[in-house]
Amino acid sequence: MKHKIIDEALLHHHGEPGALLPVLHEIQDALGYIPPESVEQIARGLNLSRADVHGVITYYSHFRRDPPARHAVAVCRGEACQSMGSAALLAHAERTLGCKMHQTSADGRFHLDAAYCLGLCASSPAVTVDGNPHARMTTEAFDALVLQCGKTP
Ligand code: FES
Repeated sequence: MKHKIIDEALLHHHGEPGALLPVLHEIQDALGYIPPESVEQIARGLNLSRADVHGVITYYSHFRRDPPARHAVAVCRGEACQSMGSAALLAHAERTLGCKMHQTSADGRFHLDAAYCLGLCASSPAVTVDGNPHARMTTEAFDALVLQCGKTP
């Protein structure tokens, strides 16, 4: 199945200049990540080296190399949120979830990321959980959100 999805992405962008990024986006949209074992197939399909493909995947933090976690958490690091303590909130989130920013927790439940302004500046700091925004976030409110996702803080 993965192999077929990758072949289709390569076919969709066959002959396009700079096809690597659109191919990677299409694969990630379909699978939720770029399987490490697909690097060779992508490189062969685009007539690139494996190092070229690997370099692009690792350069852009947008591209995931592991299957997506069940819950995506993002802490806003925009200016307004930073002025309202988002750095401390992020540190709390890392401790609570058991993973650093841009990482997935060992149990695969949570992926922690940064956001850069969620349009909730007047009610900062803000986070999203599975794409849903939550404003005026405190450590206690964050733990309650995590609890709703089935994890004891
Ligand atoms: S800076 Fe965080 S919501 Fe705008």
